[in-house]
Amino acid sequence: MSPDSDLSTKVLPTHVAIIMDGNGRWAKKRFMPRLEGHRQGAKSVRRAVEFCRRNGIKYLTLYAFSTENWLRPESEVSGLMKLLSQFIDSELDEIHKNDIKFNIIGEADRLPTFVRNKIQAALERTSNNRTMVLTVALSYGGRQDIVSAALKVHDALMTGKLTREDISEGIFASYLNTVSLPDPDLLIRTGGEIRISNFLLWQLAYAELYFTDQLWPDFDEQSFWRAIDEFRSRQRRFGKISEQIKSPL
Ligand code: IPE
Ligand code: IPE
Ligand code: MG
Repeated sequence: MSPDSDLSTKVLPTHVAIIMDGNGRWAKKRFMPRLEGHRQGAKSVRRAVEFCRRNGIKYLTLYAFSTENWLRPESEVSGLMKLLSQFIDSELDEIHKNDIKFNIIGEADRLPTFVRNKIQAALERTSNNRTMVLTVALSYGGRQDIVSAALKVHDALMTGKLTREDISEGIFASYLNTVSLPDPDLLIRTGGEIRISNFLLWQLAYAELYFTDQLWPDFDEQSFWRAIDEFRSRQRRFGKISEQIKSPL
């Protein structure tokens, strides 16, 4: 239950996207290796998935590794890849049991084979699940997503699958990695930075943005409720004026 019962009757976001930042600093504060922060971060992932499932938030999209994160020291990158594979090993049964569909966005072909194989198995096993969609952004970059969509649209135009008149926002969006997902309603970023860091650039056009100083491993159910309550206190106008939203005529 939300700590604020007045707000609990108001609408929940359908799609929450999270930039899970602050694992490294969480570990540093405790004089631990950065990877320990990522390990603790995996526990927060489990909590966030469970929160969404229990509260009927149908889409959760987690930024786990950006295109730019490949530039980190090799030991951190390989540690993260191992953690990812271990996460799938330990969580897949639970995810499947809870009727959650596993999905990924990003440049999957850049991931090491052992991770790709695990992902492939998880995608296949959960493909018919309907209660919730858990999308993990891996080697994901918003700009890369847009450029790759533009190239696909180009190919479709060249082969005559599309004509110039067919091109619309909706058609263009259908060539993005997120084709099967609605746009996020709420973006949460932990870790104190106030930036998007090349996450879903196109898709976040009208998302409500929520930033917290809390580090990702500390982000718990109460933190999630705070973000949801903030979301529910906002008026989403989508360019219109307040009166049009109150009486939608
Ligand atoms: C986010 O935590 C996780 C990834 C980017 C993989 P960071 O590793 O960026 O943690 P900080 O920002 O250094 O604290
Ligand atoms: C964003 O965090 C990417 C993920 C959480 C996966 P970063 O730590 O990479 O972002 P910057 O470098 O601070 O912008
Ligand atoms: Mg960071």
